[in-house]
Formats: sequence, structure tokens, C-alpha cells
Amino acid sequence: MERKELRVNTFDHPLIQHKLTFIRDKRTGAKEFRELVGELSMLMAYEVTRDLPLEEVEVETPICAARTKVIAGKKLGVIPILRAGLGMVDGVIRLIPAAKVGHIGLYRDPETLQPVEYYCKLPSDLGERDLIVLDPMLATGGSASAAISFLKERGAQSIKFMCLIAAPEGVARVNADHPDVEIYAAALDERLNDHAYIVPGLGDAGDRLFGTR
Ligand code: PRP
Ligand code: URA
Repeated sequence: MERKELRVNTFDHPLIQHKLTFIRDKRTGAKEFRELVGELSMLMAYEVTRDLPLEEVEVETPICAARTKVIAGKKLGVIPILRAGLGMVDGVIRLIPAAKVGHIGLYRDPETLQPVEYYCKLPSDLGERDLIVLDPMLATGGSASAAISFLKERGAQSIKFMCLIAAPEGVARVNADHPDVEIYAAALDERLNDHAYIVPGLGDAGDRLFGTR
């Protein structure tokens, strides 16, 4: 059977690969884990926003007038999937402070592995914004795909998905359900295990961020 090519942007920057190793390490505690997730998110946001349009402006330097560039009045939105996506928000909005933040609460039912929605609060002008959906883990892809469908039902037109670790199964699912959505992952791992955890992965991102379990 022909294997469909996975469409995902991964990151080979040494700083990203280095920090990723430490969040994978089971000895890394919640404080350091949170800091590293924030740093990784900021480094990734730098690349994910690479195609933002620019416009020319005039500025007076202490020496003379100069024509330089600023980001054109593009509206951005950052949408973390609760709970683990929250860990990525600060890093991203430190780079793009004008972005509005919307929240979608989903958890993966441990029996059925299906996403269950429990919260939603989004910017009212969703359709006018370029959205970046945040979740550290793309495992089966059920949560990401449901969140993206949810945003589209509410008028979203432009969506990128950014995660730290993706499994091939999750990338394939989002590629199939949402071919218009570009995926960015710090790493593409090997596979899912029998409990749909990513191998080698980093374990349960939400629990490691918030010190639960
Ligand atoms: C984790 C993770 C994703 C989801 C990925 O969240 O943060 O949202 O699982 O799995 P999937 O690709 O198979 O849907 P979880 O459901 O554990 O909730 P939490 O963020 O509240 O810990
Ligand atoms: N959710 C996580 O937090 N980790 C995984 O490996 C899969 C789903």
C-alpha cells in the first residue's frame, strides 16, 4: 500500500534540539519543564511567524530619516488547547504581544481516546485573524483535529498548528482532516504505544507541566 507523505515542518536548530532533550528526560522537574516549554515555544514562534507581511514606515533615527519595516497590520490569534497548551502561551506572546489569546478546553477520554470539549472562549473577530493553535503533543491527532474543526465552525479562515512533539499518526490525521493547516513540530517521533502515548515522547505533558499525578 502506498504510504502518504507526511506534511509537517520540523526544526533542526541546535537550541531547539538541545532543550527538547531536557524536556524528554523523566528526571526534569515541573519548574524546569515549564521554563523549557516556554523557551521552546518562543524559539518556534520565531520560525512560525516567518511569513508575516511587512510594510515600510519612516522613522527618525538620531542621525536622519530612514525608511524601515514593521509588521503590516495583521491580526494574530493564539489558541492554546487546555490544559497543556497553556504552557506554550507565554513564550509565544512574548514575541507577538499584540496577539489575542483564545482558549479551547479539550481532554482526551482515557477509555475512548476521543476528545471531549469542556471550555471555549475565543476572540470575536476570529475570521479576521491568523491563528496559531498550541498544544505540546500531537498524538492520535484527535484533539488537534477537533479543535481546528471547532475554530473553522466559528469562522476561522487561517490556522497553523504548533506542537513540541508529533507522532506520525497525528500528523497524518491532521493532514487528512485539514489539508489547509500547516503543522510545525519541534520533533517528529517514531510512533504511538498501545495507550496512544508518543514513543519516545515525553510522557504526559499536562501532568509534567502542572505537577499532577
Ligand atoms: C494531551 C495533549 C493533547 C492530547 C493529544 O492532552 O496535550 O491535547 O493529549 O492527544 P491526541 O492527539 O491523541 O488527541 P490531555 O487530553 O492529556 O489533556 P490535558 O492537556 O488536560 O492534560
Ligand atoms: N498526551 C500526552 O500528554 N502525551 C502523549 O504522549 C500523548 C498524549
